[in-house]
Amino acid sequence: MAFVITDPCINTKDTACVDVCPVDCIHPRKDEPEFETATMLYIHPEECIDCGACVPACPVAAIYDGPDSTPKSQGSLIEANAIFRAGEPDTVAKAEAIVQSHVAAHPDLMAIAPEQRAAAHGK
Ligand code: F3S
Ligand code: F3S
Repeated sequence: MAFVITDPCINTKDTACVDVCPVDCIHPRKDEPEFETATMLYIHPEECIDCGACVPACPVAAIYDGPDSTPKSQGSLIEANAIFRAGEPDTVAKAEAIVQSHVAAHPDLMAIAPEQRAAAHGK
């Protein structure tokens, strides 16, 4: 199991989660070149130790505590989190393509302010 970042992070990229993660498994960080263009941030599922510190840190409730608890509407972003690797253009492009597909498939969610979007995930 690993924690999963979902769509309230899209274009929010608050990065409070990065600051509290004890194992530095959330990318891209602000000091990584991908940060400026990344649509959202991603949790490396093999490096996350499930400490949970990132969940209360996120001001828009973007993080779920595992694939099983991630709402179906966010399912494709589980794969995006799993694929993204800072410094690897191919994986960055694949993850970002998944995010763009998610955005295109969910205009309803994208129309909601990020801080209120998680409340609509299960609907
Ligand atoms: Fe880090 Fe959150 Fe996992 S703080 S270790 S990404 S649960
Ligand atoms: Fe995104 Fe929330 Fe982290 S908006 S960058 S998951 S603090």
